[in-house]
Formats: sequence, C-alpha cells, structure tokens
Amino acid sequence: MKNIVLIGFMGTGKSCVGQILAERLGRHFIDIDALVEQAIGMSIAEYFSRFGEAAFRDRESAAVETVSAQSGAVIATGGGVVLRQQNIDRLKTNGILFCLAACETTIVERTAGDRLRPLLNRPDRLQAIRQLLAERQPLYRQADHWIETDGRTAAEVAATILQVLDGEACLHGDDSGQSGQSQL
Ligand code: S3P
Repeated sequence: MKNIVLIGFMGTGKSCVGQILAERLGRHFIDIDALVEQAIGMSIAEYFSRFGEAAFRDRESAAVETVSAQSGAVIATGGGVVLRQQNIDRLKTNGILFCLAACETTIVERTAGDRLRPLLNRPDRLQAIRQLLAERQPLYRQADHWIETDGRTAAEVAATILQVLDGEACLHGDDSGQSGQSQL
C-alpha cells in the first residue's frame, strides 16, 4: 500500500491534515519534522541556529530516506523538503503526493506569532514568505495532486483528500498510480 505524503509551504496545515487523515484511514502518522527533532534531540529552530540550514537539510533527507522505506503511512513533510530533488524522488517511489497550497496572506495569518520556524523568524516576514513561495512553487508542482486550503479547515481539506483517494481507487482498482496533476 502506498504512503500518502503531504508536501507544501509552512502554514498550509500538513501536520493537522495528516493527523486527521491517518485517524480516518486507520493508518500510521509520521511527521518528518518531529522525526528529525527526535534524532537531533533539540528543536529545529535551535538546530538551525547552532548548525545552519544545510546541516538541517541533511538530517531531513536522512529522515525522508527512513520513512520512504515504509508503506501505508500518512507522512507530513517540512515545507523545504522539496529543495532536494532526491527527497521528492524517494517519497514518490512509494507514495502519492498531495501538495497543500495557500496564498501568502493566509500563510502570514496562520504563522503569525510563530517563533518556531527559523526561516520566518525575521522582521520582513511577508517578504520572506513571498520569496520562498516563488522559489518553491515549481518544486511543489511535482505533487500528484494540488489542494487549495485557503478558507478551509483541516477537516475539510482532509475530506477532499479522502475523496481523491476514493476516486483513484475506483479508477485504478487500487491506489497504485495516476497521470497528470489534479487541482482541487
Ligand atoms: C521549513 C519548514 C518547517 C521545518 C523547517 C524548515 C521550510 O516545517 O521543516 O523550519 O524550509 O519550509 P513546516 O512546513 O512543518 O513548518
């Protein structure tokens, strides 16, 4: 059984939606950020400030490699997982990728007051979000399905994903594959 993998920018609800999905489907939930924090024994923010982003990305890739060996899990990734193509390739090998999307205003609102995300911990937060979104948009487009989350609750987004999964099971008799990217 393929993994269900959630990718997308910070603040798009990957962890919340992932937990709901896992519960509804009776599947195991894995949060890659949490896995990395377990491995490094400190918060991601602290690791960033002590060792830098590149060291964090190495840890993140190692966690991706570990979880990609699993099957049937619901996996929430960190927003920057797409920065290394090898991560995407690994996650795709045994997973169906859903990108959760949101516009910059929604992301600003959802991450307001958050000090735990090092890349947003700066005075020009809106500008940082704008720039990172622009850089990453083409990378997120590699997902199999694109789900808009603006103005929707995590439960609503999870319900949409469940519909897509149901549709795929009808089309293919299982969840083994699809062509092109759907937009919902
Ligand atoms: C990051 C997103 C974070 C976390 C780290 C870097 C990013 O995860 O992995 O702070 O580069 O977008 P969330 O998307 O869960 O906030």
